[in-house]
Amino acid sequence: MSEMSLPFHVKFEPGKIRSEEWSKSIKDPEKYWDEKARALSWFRTWDKVLDDSNKPFYKWFVGGKINASYNCLDRHVVTEKKNKVAYIWEGESGEVKTVTYYQLYKEVNRFAKVLQDLGVKKGDRIALYLPMIPELPTAMLAATRIGAIHVMVFSGFSADALADRINDAGAKILITADGSFRRGKIVELKKTSDVAVEKCPTIEKVIVVKYSGQQVQMKEGRDLWYHELMSKVPSNTYVPPEPVDSTDPIFLLYTSGTTGKPKGVQHGTGGYLVWVYWTLKWAFDVNDKDIWWCTADIGWITGHSYVVYGPLLHGITSFMYDGAPDYPQPDRWWDAIERHGVTIFYTSPTAIRMFMRFGDEWVLKHDLSTLRALGSVGEPINPEAWLWYYKVVGKERCPIIDTWWQTETGGFMISPTLGIELVPLKPGSATYPLPSIVAEVYNDNGQPAPVGERGYLVIKTPWPGMLQTLWRDPERYKMVYFGRFEGIYYTSDYAIRDQDGYIWFLGRADEVLKVAGHRIGTVEIESALVSHKSVAEAAVIGKADEIKGEVPVAFVVLRSGFTPSDELKAELSKHVRATVGPIAVPADIIFVNKLPKTRSGKIMRRLLKAIVSGATLGDISTLEDGASVEEVKKALEEMGGHLG
Ligand code: PRX
Repeated sequence: MSEMSLPFHVKFEPGKIRSEEWSKSIKDPEKYWDEKARALSWFRTWDKVLDDSNKPFYKWFVGGKINASYNCLDRHVVTEKKNKVAYIWEGESGEVKTVTYYQLYKEVNRFAKVLQDLGVKKGDRIALYLPMIPELPTAMLAATRIGAIHVMVFSGFSADALADRINDAGAKILITADGSFRRGKIVELKKTSDVAVEKCPTIEKVIVVKYSGQQVQMKEGRDLWYHELMSKVPSNTYVPPEPVDSTDPIFLLYTSGTTGKPKGVQHGTGGYLVWVYWTLKWAFDVNDKDIWWCTADIGWITGHSYVVYGPLLHGITSFMYDGAPDYPQPDRWWDAIERHGVTIFYTSPTAIRMFMRFGDEWVLKHDLSTLRALGSVGEPINPEAWLWYYKVVGKERCPIIDTWWQTETGGFMISPTLGIELVPLKPGSATYPLPSIVAEVYNDNGQPAPVGERGYLVIKTPWPGMLQTLWRDPERYKMVYFGRFEGIYYTSDYAIRDQDGYIWFLGRADEVLKVAGHRIGTVEIESALVSHKSVAEAAVIGKADEIKGEVPVAFVVLRSGFTPSDELKAELSKHVRATVGPIAVPADIIFVNKLPKTRSGKIMRRLLKAIVSGATLGDISTLEDGASVEEVKKALEEMGGHLG
């Protein structure tokens, strides 16, 4: 861990203003949020800021009425922001479009009318399976305008994964595109949607955005073109924004957990919007002159909160790019920053490490002097990547804002704060919790871990952006997040707190992987593998990877009648890709005779991890809980593996 401090942009005594703000928020949270929430427009203010009478089902701004689309658009179009650019959009082919707040407002109203005409009502779920095109925020805001709940599924997910999420959510409408582009090739979204929808009885209509332009099959009576529907709606159409309860859900977003079934994380409208608004202000101090670029796909929470809601609530200009980061050349992103004058750039450690590998010259070719801050999210950032980002991209002028948070938290939780006060940065640490967040590192027994010792990060206070529950599964919500340490939010992350109180993240403590910053459960990959006819049993673990942080490695026991071969490996990879999606494909598949298990039948995951990381048996025997050295040796022999 690097302890190096970079105190050069400290304006004040380190931490004083920040800790005062934090203390204020903790001392009287209701008073604090009663003031903060007024930054948004409410149709009716709340009767109670925080209702914690039914823990852990916290309710924020109870009695308040609000609308997301109104706050993102209507508010701005009556000001000088009317003709301000909301999105500068660029496609992989180089095509550039701009969408002003007023244009977006008009599109959203028209599409809200389309949805209404198709019978969509408040509380209905609308599934989205779209690439990074302006129609995506349009569809999200149109849904929220009429009080419908959007359920976005990342466009890299397979037909099965899409169908599972649609079915769990009970979505009525699916919005997709004919196809999208990746490295010049077409990704067939409509085709995948067709396969998915066959298994989705609740889907009544499929709306298709024409984007890639290739031929697609349109099913009579079910499939409708977006542009045809829109052309029938007059351009001055106004759909009054539905004043929803603050506690009505704004969206569901599925994410991976320790079991095979993805969890439908449910966010409430008022609390989520307030949290996203303030966290973006606190961390990056966004202002009217900014050109903000968050590189995340809208299919993940980062895109929801900081490509769509956060920037639009603030009325700032965002750059949005659809395509591969290194296409056609490794300087695609730096070139985009230069051409569009991006002022804040927010990306993942995986992307940073990839660009670092391409070499400094690709960055140095470009004038990046418009940049004023750089952000990182999604996985721990190693000090080497942090320093490279800081020096080569930011020219030692731009602070690195490493934001730690989760799908469940709605917005940033632990991060430096340009908008309050910047504390001295340590490469690799996300610094301190934001206002309202009391974070602690616990040991196994739920006691605070000593300084410098690894433990589990927990959050002891409720905050407005926290998930409300898991969709139609309140018991699982209670168990997963508040069961590990009674009544306290469990993050599933390993962390260390250092002597200055800075928090350092060490990755997930559960069976969830972060592959290139994408969250995927090992169980999901295992289920995909065992659904192949040749596989009897499978165990998936994460292996450290220089660029992607970690990658999945699978241990597979074949059914009798099947023999290990490279062809079978390739077939299994293809099968995982088709069942879950490209992010789940194992970097390696190791065929074994038997999986190593403890006497109680638990797979010895640490043994498997040790095997792929090249550790020796001596290192492992002490690591396996409940297994003796003899057992480990025996398991290893039966496995058919070998260890030094
Ligand atoms: O392990 C942490 C890691 O990403 C997990 C949450 O993943 P997801 O819900 O997909 O949301 C990602 C974007 C917010 C966390 O449990 N993580 C996220 N940000 C960081 C991080 N790990 C270390 N440092 C971060 N800045």
